[in-house]
Amino acid sequence: MAESMYDKYGGFETVSKIVHGLYEKIARSDVLQPYFENVDMQQLMSHQTKFFSSIMGGPIHYDARQLTEVHRYLKITQEAFTEVAELLEEVLEDFDVIQEDIDTLLALVAELKPQIVQG
Ligand code: HEM
Repeated sequence: MAESMYDKYGGFETVSKIVHGLYEKIARSDVLQPYFENVDMQQLMSHQTKFFSSIMGGPIHYDARQLTEVHRYLKITQEAFTEVAELLEEVLEDFDVIQEDIDTLLALVAELKPQIVQG
């Protein structure tokens, strides 16, 4: 069996660093930062780390069905979604994830767009 991306890039520790790197970039964005103002960041980091571990093939389950529920009331625009996807690409590049794997992850994230964007 092929090695998972989770193992290939260093497991939980790397995923956790990727998630933190993503939120450092989000915090610097005028478009995105307001969405996160009243959020429990510790809980968010923990859930996000589980989410990314799961889509990178790690031994952690995250039920993607709860994504709709979590994002429903945030009125997330197309623009905000695209910006998060771009920042995610940047942070994956920062951690030397190869382009083929970045494309795989971005495609998985793009599939979730209907659950996240409110139009
Ligand atoms: C690009 C694709 C995205 C993915 C894969 C994603 C994934 C997630 C995940 C896994 C969580 C944790 C959910 C949980 O508690 O179980 C979360 C929470 C959250 N997301 Fe997203 N998200 C995306 C885009 C966005 C965008 C574009 C925004 C706003 C600009 C956003 C705003 C939030 C906020 C504010 C929370 C915290 C909600 C709360 O805890 O009350 N997300 N997201």
